[in-house]
Amino acid sequence: MITTDLFPATLNPSRQYETLCAGAVVLRGFALENERPLLGAIETITAQAPFRHLITPGGFRMSVGMTNAGPLGWVSDRRGYRYDAVDPDSGKPWPAMPEVFLELAGAAAARAGFPGFVPDACLVNRYEPGTRLTLHQDRNERDFSQPIVSVSLGIPAVFLFGGMQRTDRAMRVPLAHGDVVVWGGPARLRYHGVLPLKPNHHEALGACRINLTFRRAG
Ligand code: SIN
Ligand code: FE2
Repeated sequence: MITTDLFPATLNPSRQYETLCAGAVVLRGFALENERPLLGAIETITAQAPFRHLITPGGFRMSVGMTNAGPLGWVSDRRGYRYDAVDPDSGKPWPAMPEVFLELAGAAAARAGFPGFVPDACLVNRYEPGTRLTLHQDRNERDFSQPIVSVSLGIPAVFLFGGMQRTDRAMRVPLAHGDVVVWGGPARLRYHGVLPLKPNHHEALGACRINLTFRRAG
């Protein structure tokens, strides 16, 4: 694409629709319109299913706090990564997927060229300053023809968007409150991650970043 060649997305944070590569876009400020209902829904979810630090299959405690909403939730423990309909901490189903989440995820996916996206899983990540997410692929889902929709809220972060191999050079994409990243199609299995967050303050969320990752898991 000529525009991305001449003006790499990372150098143009003011553009509203930034193509990262075929199948991947950043929609700047796309979630801002729904800011209040989104933050309210996150409070409802975390009151029922509080953030927790999952253990990786290798035995490490993840620095990012996690919880879920929707029919399926992403979990990790010594047995591996998987989706589960039940919150292992409470033994109950995950909180319901709020309507505002479904609408936002569907609209963002459609805007990015993936119409008809109906997520059945929302992973809610909480990053505090110093926490990070190492490069990984999202591959615990059944159908890779379905995209990933990722909503950033709170303090800024630098998203790493790499290639199909872990060692491929990764783009550094600054993300702010309200930005939405969508990747699917030829980009669905690209490695991605988040650099350690710098200390900062956001008027609504304080010293933290919350990311909503929408997926069709089952
Ligand atoms: C993820 O890969 O699950 C989350 C990415 C992000 O926090 O931006
Ligand atoms: Fe991911």
